[in-house]
Order: sequence, then C-alpha cells, then structure tokens
Amino acid sequence: MKITYIDYNGTQRDVEVEAGTNLRDAALNNAIPGIDGDCGGECACATCHVRVDPAWLPRLPTMGDQEKMMLEMMDDRDERSRLGCQIHLSPELDGLVVHTPMGQH
Ligand code: FES
Repeated sequence: MKITYIDYNGTQRDVEVEAGTNLRDAALNNAIPGIDGDCGGECACATCHVRVDPAWLPRLPTMGDQEKMMLEMMDDRDERSRLGCQIHLSPELDGLVVHTPMGQH
C-alpha cells in the first residue's frame, strides 16, 4: 500500500509499505524526515506527531485516550494532529497523505 509523507518544505515522498504496520514505523523504515518516534511506539513521547491531510481525517481510526492526552500536552497541535504510532495502517488507508513537522520536540 502507498503512503505519502509531505515534509515542512513541501517535498512529497511516496513509500510502499506493508499493511499492518503503523505510520511511525513506516516513516522510520523509509528514512522520512521529521519523525523521531523516541518511545518506540508506546504512545509516550509524541515525537511521531503528524498532521493528517483533511480528506483523510474522517477515515482514520478514532483517537484513544492516551493519544488524546499526549496531544493535549503539545503546543503546536491542531485539529489535524495525530500520533503516527497510533495509526495502524489497515488496507483501507492505502493512499493516506500526512504532513510531517520540521522536527519533533
Ligand atoms: Fe512515541 Fe508515538 S512513538 S508517541
């Protein structure tokens, strides 16, 4: 399945990933800039923050309490913010487009 990451410069990177992975792992495995994922995908660091393309937002799995809590602690979140490690890439998300920040903090 294809995932598109667009970085803060507007550079688009299309990657082919296996269904069943998540947005954080898919980014790290494909050297996508702007995603750190320091906690290993445990929803405990928020360094896998992405902004989801508006067209895809309603199609994503709903946010869990832990993800919500982590995002609430971030200053630069907005209504399109999600944590990549919490987005399980099911086949229905083939073609998903997300934006990555300049860096994570
Ligand atoms: Fe740490 Fe996602 S990798 S919250």
